[in-house]
Amino acid sequence: MRILFVCLGNICRSPTAESVFRAVSARELPELTLSVDSAGTADYHVGEPPDRRTREAAARRGYDLSSLRARVVEPSDFQTCDLILAMDCQNLRTLERLAPAEARDRLGLFLDYAPDAGTREVPDPYYGGENGFEHVLDLIETASRGLCEALRAGAVGQPAHVPRAG
Ligand code: 4NP
Repeated sequence: MRILFVCLGNICRSPTAESVFRAVSARELPELTLSVDSAGTADYHVGEPPDRRTREAAARRGYDLSSLRARVVEPSDFQTCDLILAMDCQNLRTLERLAPAEARDRLGLFLDYAPDAGTREVPDPYYGGENGFEHVLDLIETASRGLCEALRAGAVGQPAHVPRAG
């Protein structure tokens, strides 16, 4: 099963989601083989490591983002990924425009796995204060646990490489 997290720049929210979900799923679903990745819909920061404030906030909670590098969503992602989760509605709309019809049911919002979070979007922390990065981590940790519960319950779609009936 391959899961891709998507934001705008791939230097704040989606690399945080990649690292946090990798850690949470390794702890909560050790029996599942998951491939976890992240990408952006914009190319402003391609090749760069995550934002310094993102790395520092994540490190305070034990997540190491230093080896990650920003990339953009590629057409092949829609062939290889079973689940493509956007951080906000704007990026979900971009994915819906880019995705071939047969991949659209694999798109969603990450916070749909955090129904009690009080919001459907992980807010962009890039132009805000330090507290924004803590809020991003809180939302992403909650949604990561929710996604693990959904995977454990079998409530998430079939792997992309398994032909669908019909
Ligand atoms: P991200 O945050 O989408 O969470 O990585 C942003 C990073 C960079 C920019 C905007 C959002 N930017 O405009 O450069």
